[in-house]
Amino acid sequence: MKEHDQWKSVYPEGEIFEDEIERQYYFMKKAAFYIEKKAEEKKRPLTFFVTTFGCQMNAKDSEKLKGILEKVGYVEGESEDEADFVIYNTCTVRDNANQRVYGRLGSLGSKKKKNPQKLIALCGCMMQESSVIEKIKKSYGFVDIIFGTHNLFKFAELLCKRLESTERVIEIWKETDKIVEELPSERTYSFKSGINIMYGCNNFCSYCIVPYVRGRERSRSPEDIIKETRKLAEDGVIEVMLLGQNVNSYGRNLTESVNFSQLLKMVEEVDGIERIRFMTSHPKDLSEEIIKVMKHSKKICRHLHLPLQSGSTRILKAMNRKYTKEEYVSLAKKIREEIEDISITTDIIVGFPGETMEDVKETVKVIEEVEFDGAFTFLYSKRTGTPAASMEEQVSKEVMKEGFSYVLDAVQKTAKKRASLREGKVMDVLVEEINGQDSSLVSGRLSNNMMVHFPGGKELIGKIVPVYLKESKGFYFLGEKCEGNH
Ligand code: SAH
Ligand code: SF4
Ligand code: F3S
Repeated sequence: MKEHDQWKSVYPEGEIFEDEIERQYYFMKKAAFYIEKKAEEKKRPLTFFVTTFGCQMNAKDSEKLKGILEKVGYVEGESEDEADFVIYNTCTVRDNANQRVYGRLGSLGSKKKKNPQKLIALCGCMMQESSVIEKIKKSYGFVDIIFGTHNLFKFAELLCKRLESTERVIEIWKETDKIVEELPSERTYSFKSGINIMYGCNNFCSYCIVPYVRGRERSRSPEDIIKETRKLAEDGVIEVMLLGQNVNSYGRNLTESVNFSQLLKMVEEVDGIERIRFMTSHPKDLSEEIIKVMKHSKKICRHLHLPLQSGSTRILKAMNRKYTKEEYVSLAKKIREEIEDISITTDIIVGFPGETMEDVKETVKVIEEVEFDGAFTFLYSKRTGTPAASMEEQVSKEVMKEGFSYVLDAVQKTAKKRASLREGKVMDVLVEEINGQDSSLVSGRLSNNMMVHFPGGKELIGKIVPVYLKESKGFYFLGEKCEGNH
């Protein structure tokens, strides 16, 4: 490729780098060189379009991808159809996430036929499964770049490799102990941001594929986390969400002894940060110390997402969750007693192998006892390679659906009841955006994470304002902004 020769005359190859991040910045410079040439040919900037599937970790990863893309000269496009570079950051936690990716890939293929210069990259959790890679090679041969969760930091390098050849680039790492920080990042919101505090998971819940695709638990150093938090605060961020699959076990692999509650206190001290959230908590590791820190904190939000998964001790054991129904209920009660007005939300799986209607009824009982403020309810999805996939007694679709509607009904009732307790109150809302359906309204969140929609304009975005919660709609409120100071 002639650009590659030109590049070599500008920057001789064979450079030695101090560390991986310096190496990656070299590739970003190189990619920028190539992209500039292409933009000159097209007489317009090249565009990208990233679609993110799955959880907050993936959303955070996508911000890094976008940061790198902008660094090398791409601009964000309006749609997948017209973009020069399309990226899917995938999720594989349940099969429907995979099916959505395959569906979208099908239509992307026909667009690539019409415009062979369109680049397509796949990354994220699905790519860590060898069966997926085989399927993509066989049925979706038009994909240009494939990488996984462990080597996302090499995105610029892989892009260069693809631009320098006509070959497809596939690079997947099975594991890593590396944490590569300080990649460029393009935040979705100016006023709030996720911060990775740990990567991977060691819990191996028997239904879950995450430990296989995200690797072993690795905590970031508290210094790095605080440095990032300070930088975000200086940049106008007022709300941070500390991210990890099980934040309660933060610090276990660090040489210095810092645990999650100590980390929370450190983050609390960062000036400018007004709200702190975290996700996700595993009930088995939620200590009294953490509850105490939350209770006395002015910044930690009144919300705890505490996945129950099942309310039947027998099923919890088969799920390898390491707590009983009674332990969960007493933990939730303690949290409610200690922290005034806290919202507790949860995840529930219906249809785990061997689950009977009796088990589902026990789950419903726990829902009623804890009175969840909200819940994500999932149909069990068999994930190849997990212990649950080879368990006998897989539950039929019909039984699953029946159980699902019981659980959903119970959750809706408790959520509605909890929300109605706040009706008529005045609470602080961090305004996030103009309402998608009605542009005379803005939408934001309470400390307890519930959405509130109320009349207002874009000048309120990123501000915390007191709002009168006029009407509860079950999962959200309609409100009115209170005038004056509060
Ligand atoms: N680390 C978090 C959750 C990560 S996955 C935790 O431990 O809570 C998010 C949710 O997806 C899980 O809480 C679980 O409810 C659901 N989930 C995971 N694997 C699933 C599967 N195989 N089928 C259905 N739901 C699943
Ligand atoms: Fe999956 Fe369990 Fe780890 Fe959560 S804690 S990511 S459910 S294995
Ligand atoms: Fe999905 Fe990976 Fe998150 S499997 S839920 S995107 S960690």
